[in-house]
Amino acid sequence: MRKPFIAGNWKMNTDAAGASALAAGLAKALAGVTTVDVAVCPPFVYLQRVAEALAGSTIRLGAQDVYFEDNGAFTGEISCAMLKDVCCTYVIVGHSERRHVIGETDALINKKVAAVIASGLQPILCAGELLEEREAGKTESVVAGQIRKGLAGITAEQMAAVTIAYEPVWAIGTGRTATAAQAQEVHAMIRELLGEMYNERVAAQTRIQYGGSAKPSNTAELMANADVDGLLVGGAGLKVDDFAAMIKTVA
Ligand code: PGA
Repeated sequence: MRKPFIAGNWKMNTDAAGASALAAGLAKALAGVTTVDVAVCPPFVYLQRVAEALAGSTIRLGAQDVYFEDNGAFTGEISCAMLKDVCCTYVIVGHSERRHVIGETDALINKKVAAVIASGLQPILCAGELLEEREAGKTESVVAGQIRKGLAGITAEQMAAVTIAYEPVWAIGTGRTATAAQAQEVHAMIRELLGEMYNERVAAQTRIQYGGSAKPSNTAELMANADVDGLLVGGAGLKVDDFAAMIKTVA
């Protein structure tokens, strides 16, 4: 009932030629794949050329961030309308690197989620605990708090647009993947939380991705979990062969 959804977060990687080549390579490698929703999220400046390289394919385009205002004096920021202009479907919001490196707050993330949904784009809301929070037994309270605050004011109907990504910060870019059991435990907690915050229908329909050193060799194990509906992929999403292999494993 929940269609698997795998997204590549390219972060601050690639260059103009590399972004086009990666997108074109994926479009070719994944031609005919219809049982998995696939998206790539390149840096802002390459969105347009990646959109061109993906034309005619089923791979969707996503942005890595957005600003919540419509337009105006916000130097350096990008609006939802601009992302729609370059054919984006998804926007990653509240990635841990934006929370912990750039300093985004839950309040800002919530404004972004609301603006993304209002614009007709679809947010991928990220949540995840730091290693010291996990070791202190705070995983559930940290993740639940980020999700509650990130989704404040979002209605059950609007939740149809939302994907949640559980990304334990200690697993991102470290090669240290959460075990399938660790991922499932948090994903099940998130689904239960959505049931409490909304209703059973929202809990059952919302896709929850796992992110953090996901790669071809652990894709099947992670995706075998009942509540893991997809992956948000960093490093392995930068190689056509690896990303395509992950999607084909799931398809
Ligand atoms: P990683 O990144 O796959 O390189 O660990 C995942 C993410 O941050 O989305």
